[in-house]
Amino acid sequence: MTATASRNRIALVTGASRGLGRHSALKLAEEGIDLILTYQRGEAQAQEVVRQAEALGRRALALQLDVGDSRSFDAFAARVKSALASHWQRQQFDYLVNNAGTGLHASIAETTEEQFDALLNIHLKGTFFLTQKLLPLIADGGRILNTSSGLARFSFPGYAAYAAMKGGVEVLTRYLAKELGPRGISVNTVAPGAIATDFNGGAVRDTAQVNAQIAGVTALGRVGLPDDIGAAVASLLAEGNGWINGQRIEVSGGMML
Ligand SMILES: NC(=O)c1ccc[n+]([C@@H]2O[C@H](COP(=O)([O-])OP(=O)(O)OC[C@H]3O[C@@H](n4cnc5c(N)ncnc54)[C@H](OP(=O)(O)O)[C@@H]3O)[C@@H](O)[C@H]2O)c1
Repeated sequence: MTATASRNRIALVTGASRGLGRHSALKLAEEGIDLILTYQRGEAQAQEVVRQAEALGRRALALQLDVGDSRSFDAFAARVKSALASHWQRQQFDYLVNNAGTGLHASIAETTEEQFDALLNIHLKGTFFLTQKLLPLIADGGRILNTSSGLARFSFPGYAAYAAMKGGVEVLTRYLAKELGPRGISVNTVAPGAIATDFNGGAVRDTAQVNAQIAGVTALGRVGLPDDIGAAVASLLAEGNGWINGQRIEVSGGMML
């Protein structure tokens, strides 16, 4: 029996006020998993996700977090610790889903250092140090899911800085898996293809030409929907599925095969 098998499991999902994080969180709630959600600006939207999870019979709460501000992570970890004690009478949670993030479409020639640094802080430094600060709060036998992108495997002009950060997240995932193995914690990366969310100004969802172009290079013939990723996240965190470790799992309907 794993350390997590005998009690309610708790997942911490970053960036769960909207998009992939929101749908992942609600799929996890449907599977009986309690939730600590984070939002950056969308408090009302995050509280709505909390209400929906509670309607599914789960315990849930939402905390503010900027994953681009590593100086705030000690204070955030302290708030998670106190929320675990007050809501669950526990000292640790089970699953960390590092999902929060923003995109950028700019050629290498046009990308500014400020844009590069923002992506670096959010995606790579944020994933590295948020995970580091939360490690004492993750139960032995737990799991971590990081978020990459199909763009770290295939290349479209305009995504160099963003995709380079996601490539770093994939390497970090393997090192985390190696170092956390002795604690029984498995670590994987989900790499979504293009999904219809607010991401990058909602281009995949709202721009017919972009949508059709992506559908045309996807084996299953359409763009991804947020629930496609939510379902994958929930199945990767399902009990009995803990032997997948150190892997990049692309969830793209077969984009750019
Ligand atoms: N959609 C795609 O096509 C796609 C494809 C591959 C990978 N991804 C990756 O999937 C993840 C989620 O993308 P999405 O499509 O769900 O995007 P989205 O719909 O734009 O939602 C982004 C979420 O992340 C939060 N967030 C943004 N910047 C943050 C920051 N600095 N600190 C904390 N939270 C922050 C937002 O919070 P607030 O709303 O509360 O501010 C929101 O909850 C990202 O890592 C993205 O790179 C997306």
